[in-house]
Amino acid sequence: MKNGLFITFEGLDASGKSTQIKCLSEFLVSVGYRPVVTREPGGTLIGEQIRAVILDTSNKGMDYVAEAMLYAAARAQLVAEIIRPALEDGRIVICDRFVDSSLAYQGYARKLGGMVDVINSFGVGECTPDITFLLKVSPETGEDRRNGKAPDRIESEDALYHAAVSRAYEEIERKNPQRLIGIDGGSGIREISIQIIERVNKELAARGL
Ligand code: TMP
Repeated sequence: MKNGLFITFEGLDASGKSTQIKCLSEFLVSVGYRPVVTREPGGTLIGEQIRAVILDTSNKGMDYVAEAMLYAAARAQLVAEIIRPALEDGRIVICDRFVDSSLAYQGYARKLGGMVDVINSFGVGECTPDITFLLKVSPETGEDRRNGKAPDRIESEDALYHAAVSRAYEEIERKNPQRLIGIDGGSGIREISIQIIERVNKELAARGL
């Protein structure tokens, strides 16, 4: 039984998700909530080990289906260990990426299609986000913001791959107008943060949380 509020953040690499998650969680703490902040892949001891395998650039021959299953396995662990118990306890959960990332990066950009939904349905069940903020930046912006930091295995994919992920997010946004809130990631940090906080406040009031 889900009593809390499940918020996810999506977007291309370096779209500003971490900064906005920090702003939102600091705001929520300042007004008395105790949000649970986590990330994908990872967020648990087991999930962080899976993350290391997925993102390791030396794992060059990783099969796309195996990749999708590893993301789904890390997610199943995160849902079971952290997200579901927190939501049942009435907490606000903020997660950096969730199933939409798999739909975009594996389902669409790796061309695995609907298989990704099926794989994820086992671990996620009814634990779906209530609101998703999609921070929209061009694939080139993401690259620039990395500031020379070594790319991981997914970031190392070519420009065509990242352009496909970007198109996938546009499609996901179109298909989920109620849940997904697209935000121009090129705006100022404070401006974006205000939009996010206003929307979350509205949602909390509507749910009596
Ligand atoms: P992060 O850099 O946002 O922590 O995410 C790690 C990388 O994994 C990022 O390039 C996006 C990618 N990813 C997928 O390909 N599929 C997924 O399901 C998730 C959660 C992330």
